[in-house]
Amino acid sequence: MLLIADETEKVLEELETTQKQFWNVARETGNFLNMLVKMNNIQNALEIGTSNGYSGIWLALALKETGGQLTTIEFYEKRQSVAIENFKRCGLDRIITSRVGDACTILEYLKEDEFFDFVFIDASKPQYLDYFNLIKPHLKKGGLICADNVTSHAAKVKPFLDAVNADDDFQTEILPLPAGLSVSYRIG
Ligand SMILES: C[S@@+](CC[C@H](N)C(=O)[O-])C[C@H]1O[C@@H](n2cnc3c(N)ncnc32)[C@H](O)[C@@H]1O
Repeated sequence: MLLIADETEKVLEELETTQKQFWNVARETGNFLNMLVKMNNIQNALEIGTSNGYSGIWLALALKETGGQLTTIEFYEKRQSVAIENFKRCGLDRIITSRVGDACTILEYLKEDEFFDFVFIDASKPQYLDYFNLIKPHLKKGGLICADNVTSHAAKVKPFLDAVNADDDFQTEILPLPAGLSVSYRIG
């Protein structure tokens, strides 16, 4: 079992009481994302859809161990400031860069030489395909794209799943975590 510092566990448990309101991932999903980051020694992670920071905490806890960094994007400034406060409470703020704005616009203007080895998609479901198309040029070979809600919002995310499944550069599987998590491994 993963040992989590008391204050961080307190923050996670607090956030779990408002999980539906802030559309946070399930604890199982957070724990699995944390494992994936460590198993793959991820250095540069990107999260699309910060909300109040719950999944970001799980990712950053793992990145603290790998020596990596997290960039997380949220449309709403108020929500992002709550997230920043939560990251600070967990002592994770130094390894997290929070960006406020529309993810598509931010991704469109990423520097050409900015690369990630892990991307977690958890924002607007109908935009998953746009995020995928925009992030692909910035994903390293051997990198991972995980997307939440692929079972709970199957119809809305279908264009993304169809595209990633048809893409020869990716190998994809859907895991039966609470909302359905797709994991796509960049092979080409
Ligand atoms: C499902 S919640 C994210 C939950 C978070 N990943 C967690 O588990 O703690 C989705 C978030 O994405 C944000 N969002 C939706 N569309 C967005 C966009 N186009 N750009 C940036 N953020 C967006 C919403 O404001 C919302 O806070």
